[in-house]
Amino acid sequence: MDPEGYGLLITLEGIDGSGKSTLHASLKEMLVDLDPVITREPGATWVGESVRRAIAEQIDPITEATLFVADHAAHLTRVVRPALAEGRLVISDRYSDSRYAYQSVTLEGVVPSPEAWLRSMHNGWTIMPDKTFLLTLPLDTALSRLKPASRREHFERRETLEKVQNNYLTYAWNEPSRFVVVDAMLSADTIATFVADAIRHEWEAGRKRKK
Ligand code: ADP
Ligand code: TYD
Repeated sequence: MDPEGYGLLITLEGIDGSGKSTLHASLKEMLVDLDPVITREPGATWVGESVRRAIAEQIDPITEATLFVADHAAHLTRVVRPALAEGRLVISDRYSDSRYAYQSVTLEGVVPSPEAWLRSMHNGWTIMPDKTFLLTLPLDTALSRLKPASRREHFERRETLEKVQNNYLTYAWNEPSRFVVVDAMLSADTIATFVADAIRHEWEAGRKRKK
């Protein structure tokens, strides 16, 4: 039996400024009839709060990375796993691919083979998303959408975001059946309509398969 029940797990990924939060908010309204569980990483628990604190204090990269993993574990236990077991649609703004894409950069030179290290930390307990929408755009546009440089988090440097976006594109290339690459330069309405339709299609296809 499928241990995750009949649910559908959708994730939104992309660099800072790609429009994930804007899309997430639109999907909440456009898919209201499907009663989705709208969630995010870092999450709304105290673990998520400690992640935000670690980011703000620029604590060392291993502490930061392992807190992100802890936040993911809490998110799965408290939100994702129960919702999927009830057959719900779950839409998460960021998920494990954020760890692979960002912490592979922050852990460069800190641990050998950061991506393999990160993936092995997730193996055996994480839940693979059914579909991942990856918003991509030119770095200059992403940076121009972010707050002023003086108030940015350390992830939001051009060199970091460039590597992060390249990592994401590699994952999309390696897993074409899971990833849908979306042009984040399109209007927010066009993107939301496209992604909402695609999620609706997945949801209905899933219902038919399980009948
Ligand atoms: P993220 O959550 O990926 O960091 P946001 O959704 O917060 O990105 O968007 C960053 C900024 O860009 C916000 O000011 C938002 O209004 C704007 N924005 C979002 N999507 C688009 C879009 N498709 N076109 C132009 N601007 C956008
Ligand atoms: P988030 O709150 O999603 O920021 P935004 O809405 O501005 O995109 O995430 C905060 C930062 O944490 C963001 O720069 C991406 C980074 N991040 C990681 O480095 N690893 C992770 O696993 C996650 C979930 C986020």
